[in-house]
Amino acid sequence: MKKTGIVYATKTKHSEKLAKAIGSALDVKPQNIDSRPRFTGVDLLFIVGGIYGGESNEKLVEYVKSIDPAATKAVALVTNCASGRQKQLSVRRILEGNGVQVVDEFVCKGAILFVALRHPDKKDLANAVDFTKTVIGTSMEH
Ligand SMILES: Cc1cc2nc3c(=O)[nH]c(=O)nc-3n(C[C@H](O)[C@H](O)[C@H](O)COP(=O)(O)O)c2cc1C
Repeated sequence: MKKTGIVYATKTKHSEKLAKAIGSALDVKPQNIDSRPRFTGVDLLFIVGGIYGGESNEKLVEYVKSIDPAATKAVALVTNCASGRQKQLSVRRILEGNGVQVVDEFVCKGAILFVALRHPDKKDLANAVDFTKTVIGTSMEH
């Protein structure tokens, strides 16, 4: 059985909502980066976060620098932001620079004030769960 982990950073609980939906679907307990979780022997780590001023949550940018490529084989990003389009480019760059493979990224809307109101919604959560299952299927079943 391959080992999966989930870690998230959140300011307004949207990423936590996504991480919990994924966690219950995969039966994996999501870890808040505030507890500085250390993963060992993980085949695939889902990293969940929002976008602030075009960048990933700054706490997440710091956290990913500590991810050890020997302990985490691959990462998939789960992102939410007002536009529903912006990706976590610096997080990806840091991980890849440290030799951690980033297999894919899912992006959905995450509300800010009246923009993207009510997102991530039920459909976003379902899409995120589908994404994680697809990634697990394609990146781990061999
Ligand atoms: C101060 C601030 C800046 C933001 N900047 C962006 C941005 O540049 N692009 C975007 O698409 N969303 C932006 N957002 C929206 C957040 O990415 C969105 O609310 C996300 O769901 C937050 O996730 P979190 O609650 O898990 O931290 C911003 C939100 C705030 C509060």
